[in-house]
Amino acid sequence: MSSIKTIGVIGAGQMGNGIAHVFAAAGFDVLMQDISAEFAAKGVATIAKNLQRGVDKGKMTADEKDAVLARIRTTTDLADFKAVDFAVEAATEKWEVKKQLFETLDAVCRPEVILASNTSSISITKLAAVTKRPGRFIGMHFMNPVPVMQLIEVIRGIATTDETHATVMALSKQLGKTPLVCNDSPGFISNRVLLPMLNEAIFALHEGVAGVEEIDGIMKLGMNHPMGPLTLADFIGLDTCLFILNVLHEGLGDPKYRPCPLLKKMVDAGWHGKKSGKGFYDYSGEKPVPSV
Ligand code: CAA
Repeated sequence: MSSIKTIGVIGAGQMGNGIAHVFAAAGFDVLMQDISAEFAAKGVATIAKNLQRGVDKGKMTADEKDAVLARIRTTTDLADFKAVDFAVEAATEKWEVKKQLFETLDAVCRPEVILASNTSSISITKLAAVTKRPGRFIGMHFMNPVPVMQLIEVIRGIATTDETHATVMALSKQLGKTPLVCNDSPGFISNRVLLPMLNEAIFALHEGVAGVEEIDGIMKLGMNHPMGPLTLADFIGLDTCLFILNVLHEGLGDPKYRPCPLLKKMVDAGWHGKKSGKGFYDYSGEKPVPSV
């Protein structure tokens, strides 16, 4: 454990930069990789902006913020991962992309290095099988926004060793997070339980049972959820929600996981939620307003 000093993070997007942020804030050196220097720089700028929230609230000094940022280096070349002691992948949720990344990481990283994936829905067992180190492969599923959310869902593939599991549990605690473990299965626990709720909210809207604000308000105020289900779906990304529902539907073979036709239609329209400016809400004005 104490031998883990430098963390390699693949992907500087929403999840990748959040993961780099929390490792650097916990004192680790971080090497963050993305396919272009521009994407990597955008990721660092987001980390700086999120750290600044802490400075503005008096939770950290400007010097501390600078020290965290100084621990983060970026690269576009995965060959630089020969120097990392632990690697977490947070690239796009595409099997072909992840397969290729893990084949490369397996060839580049030292044999004792654990490879972790932040995938929200791809099988950890299947990803591990593209490497020659399935025992040192694990799922480390961070929640969005990573600096804020307490949970790390740790997923054991069929071959993950007890030693790898113990190392990742300890590492997660070093980040100040709470790791909870589950076995590899479609959607793991978080998305197997969350996505059917979001899908049901979309079905209720589709069937005209209530409007967008009513559905969100009922769940927010009535269940004390921080966000209503339609706001949360927009926050996660409607394309991602559809992808995960398809994984649950195909992987578990139960029609209860079938994605709502309205969700499919919105994704087809390019309405991918907050990141695209439109989902169940339109984000172009000062305040989000329902768009369906
Ligand atoms: N980075 C760093 N800090 C952030 C942040 C970010 N991106 N976003 C918010 N924060 C901080 C704020 O600075 C604030 O900090 P303090 O408490 O120290 O003041 C705190 O978080 C709360 O933020 P706000 O007051 O601005 O806003 P809020 O109270 O409305 O909370 C929220 C925002 C934390 C996002 C809250 O709405 C929430 O918890 N929503 C639900 C999030 C959720 O369910 N995430 C899981 C999604 S599913 C997933 O990730 C898995 C998957 O595979 C799909």
